[in-house]
Amino acid sequence: KSKNCVEAKPQALLVDSPFTRRDGDTLHSSYTYRRNALARDATTGALKVTPQVHDFRFRTNLKPSRTGVMLVGLGGNNGSTALGAIIANRHGMSWRSRDGTHTANYFGSVTQAATVHLGWDGSEQVYVPFNDILPILSPSDLVVDGWDINGANLYEAMLRSKVFEPTLIDQLRPHMEGIVPKPSIYYPDFIASNQSDRANNLIPGSSKSAHLTRIRDDIREFKQKHELDTVIVLWTANTERFTEVRAGLNMTADELLAAIERNEEEVSPSNVFAVASILEGAHYINGSPQNTLVPGIVQLAKKKNVFVGGDDFKSGQTKIKSALVDFLVSSGLKPESIVSYNHLGNNDGKNLSEQRQFRSKEISKASVVDDMVAANHILYPDGKGPDHCIVIKYVPFVGDSKRAMDEYTCSIFMGGKQTISMHNTCEDSLLASPLIYDLAILTELSVRIQYSSDGGMTYQPFHEVLSLLSIFLKAPVVPEGTPVGNAFMRQFSALTKLFTAVAGISSDSDLQLEFFSK
Ligand code: NAI
Repeated sequence: KSKNCVEAKPQALLVDSPFTRRDGDTLHSSYTYRRNALARDATTGALKVTPQVHDFRFRTNLKPSRTGVMLVGLGGNNGSTALGAIIANRHGMSWRSRDGTHTANYFGSVTQAATVHLGWDGSEQVYVPFNDILPILSPSDLVVDGWDINGANLYEAMLRSKVFEPTLIDQLRPHMEGIVPKPSIYYPDFIASNQSDRANNLIPGSSKSAHLTRIRDDIREFKQKHELDTVIVLWTANTERFTEVRAGLNMTADELLAAIERNEEEVSPSNVFAVASILEGAHYINGSPQNTLVPGIVQLAKKKNVFVGGDDFKSGQTKIKSALVDFLVSSGLKPESIVSYNHLGNNDGKNLSEQRQFRSKEISKASVVDDMVAANHILYPDGKGPDHCIVIKYVPFVGDSKRAMDEYTCSIFMGGKQTISMHNTCEDSLLASPLIYDLAILTELSVRIQYSSDGGMTYQPFHEVLSLLSIFLKAPVVPEGTPVGNAFMRQFSALTKLFTAVAGISSDSDLQLEFFSK
């Protein structure tokens, strides 16, 4: 065992790397970042490519912090599923359905159920669990609480959501029945009018600044009660309509704070939650499509050194689209029309059945192929992407089993057409809840990493807009001027390359040069 040997976690990876040094709980690693500097020749238009080498250093605290997650919308389908599954996993629960016996797992979570290719050991390809690369939390470690405008306890919420089998709900009942979401804030203009009968668990009064104070108190008490180092507030409540973004309202942190103070109509509940969270030093993630992360909120996050991330969980139909269109375009086939039809019968579907909330979702679903279109100017010489149509219908009977039907029509060789039709039964909350864990776990890890681009003279945290969460989000919010990536496997590769670099391990180049000799 060399002195550079770093034990990532018991029985996991022993990293014997000249690029790492362990100093107590801190891992120092260095990484050579190779990239091309690019410029167009003004006269010929030729692309000049100059490979460059940059020295990056990372400094990582290897001890995960005690972390709590506060869900806005705890009593909803995602909220009750996310918490119920954590409890089921903690207790190793098994339950029967007509298909047989099932055991709690974390399938669908990249951090818990994906593997990373490290190389060839002489006899086989070696893949390791994602969570062996760097020490990260398990969802079972997360302390969970939250708010809901509906006062049902979490047992009732599970029954209402119709996500888990009754045999599992019965086992979870004693653990969930005593949990009642904290009262929340309800400004009827922001979510669909058909939600009004749910609003029976509200913070009294109509003063937005009083609401802000109360939410801040809730966060502070939660942090103290559970002795937490890190708190993440995550919006998994109803989709709101977009808020206006304009000077005097929310372009700067001061404007937004003043707008709350004067009870400005256009400040949404999610704006109040984001501000409360940031002021309490808690990171804020938006799992819904609305434009919560207005410039004033990003500026406030910068001032307070906390992360914000969003928008809209990428869980079912859009996740597949972000893999499939990348594959088609990378194959040299040209998607010309993408028609995405959904029907769902859960409360999310009910809320989205009104125009302004549907519009928020339509916007976030529509942007997902933009980077793939921009990547291929042979197929898309004028940058105009395929016709892209999104339809969402509310059909109560199908409940949480969202049906997503997609038709992709591509122009292919010599004037031909290829049409792909897909039917996807999404089990919405079972796909979305693992993303809640991943968003929280990777945010917590990001708190522990600092990087240096000046040879180790100065270190800084990641940008306050945490774009590495993009893989889990339909319409990633990124730092101003940063390109947005949606293609799923590229996002996965970027994430694993970053974490292997931080761990001081070579990332998989996919070249397999060692097999070239005869
Ligand atoms: P849901 O309607 O079952 O749950 C939302 C919960 O939020 C409800 O219990 C509601 O009472 C509560 N709520 C509404 N306004 C609130 C407020 N101001 N404060 C506190 N609680 C409030 O919806 P579901 O299925 O859990 O989805 C949640 C969000 O996640 C939706 O915006 C949805 O669009 C988004 N989403 C869900 C995906 C999925 O696959 N399930 C995928 C992508 C996004």
